[in-house]
Amino acid sequence: MWPDQGALDQALKQIASYPPLVFAGEARSLQAGLAQVCAGKAFLLQAGDCAESFEDFSANNIRDKLRVILQMAVVLTYSLGVPTIKVGRMAGQFAKPRSSDTEKIDNREIPSFRGHIVNDPAPTENARIPDPDRLVQAYNQSASTLNLVRAFVKGGFADLSRVHAWTQEFVGSSPEGQRYEQMATEIERALRFMRACGVDTENTATLHEADVYTSHEALLLGYEESLTRQDSLTGQWYDCSAHMLWVGERTRQLDGAHIEFLRGVGNPLGCKIGPSTSVDFVLELCQVLNPARAPGRLTLISRMGADKVETALRPLLRAVRDSGHPVVWACDPMHGNTFTSVGGRKTRHFDDIIREIAGFVNAHRLEGTWPGGIHVELTGDNVTECLGGADDLTDADLDDRYQTVCDPRLNARQGLDLAFGVAELIRSSGFA
Ligand code: TRP
Ligand code: MN
Repeated sequence: MWPDQGALDQALKQIASYPPLVFAGEARSLQAGLAQVCAGKAFLLQAGDCAESFEDFSANNIRDKLRVILQMAVVLTYSLGVPTIKVGRMAGQFAKPRSSDTEKIDNREIPSFRGHIVNDPAPTENARIPDPDRLVQAYNQSASTLNLVRAFVKGGFADLSRVHAWTQEFVGSSPEGQRYEQMATEIERALRFMRACGVDTENTATLHEADVYTSHEALLLGYEESLTRQDSLTGQWYDCSAHMLWVGERTRQLDGAHIEFLRGVGNPLGCKIGPSTSVDFVLELCQVLNPARAPGRLTLISRMGADKVETALRPLLRAVRDSGHPVVWACDPMHGNTFTSVGGRKTRHFDDIIREIAGFVNAHRLEGTWPGGIHVELTGDNVTECLGGADDLTDADLDDRYQTVCDPRLNARQGLDLAFGVAELIRSSGFA
């Protein structure tokens, strides 16, 4: 894929000389949180861009995305009564797998866009030439994104006494915004109640800080390898480009390079599971990626499509349950529900997204397993990329603010709406 092998080697060598982005101990903390999800005692919220962009890189963009994630997390935590493990598709989610090496634009065949970490999306032959300098730029953007996220979540932005303040203008006036305001008021009352009972809320750090972890698809193995380091405490190898890495449907061959790489690192791992996945594959995958059966090590991210999810998922849930392998089951309700709108835009409908989560939760209810989490594509901006939701966005609205560099994302209102919907589905199924 890279035309200049020498330049590629040079870029990777440079990254290998740079500091790691995350510390192995943090990856272990995330794994401990995910182990709680395995045990049905916590919920996983994994959310962020389909693909991060070099162009939409700004403090406001990061802050707004983090804000929706925190809002959704607080809704889930409050409604489900269990901790929400917060993982961003952030600070490294750049590379995109493509089903075709080329695409046709105005009758010209040009190389596909593979994410800003590889080439430029402009529809010209030249822009699409892979440029290794982009690997270094992706590292740098990830480092400053992560730096700001850490500053926010440890520096007071995630403080539970600020739940009201997380509401954005364009969300506040909406029905889900008002519902959120109401919940925020209840949380404030609960904090006052605890103080009245003598709990020192001021000096309880967990009320003022949160952990937000990072994750991305481990697609470009050269990049991942250049950030793979030996942990000084345990001697174990970790991919220090993010806390959690996942493998997509296109690269998850059991004897393939991606699984071979991930098998060797200590991070918590995810694998996307589509509707054609067999029971045998899933069981072997568990064996290969988690032979020690460590809870929290492996998250299976189901992306079946709303119509298929219940029937496709149940045999897999049953088989994994009976095998005794501890896994987190997360629902990606986005990727199985993509279609082209009348106007030719790639989109998803909010109702299909909710329907897939409903099927996912129901499959778990029927098999007696815990619907451990959701994995969604969203942004904090007021985009118009997915149809439906409380605003009831229609085909005609898509042209207004369709900004994604890859798949259509939920906007902040739709994300918040989804969090309320998920909590309701889980509770009404008798789980919480
Ligand atoms: N520290 C706890 C947690 O992360 C509580 C908390 C603080 C929290 N800020 C939050 C929960 C923001 C959700 C969102 O769960
Ligand atoms: Mn996507």
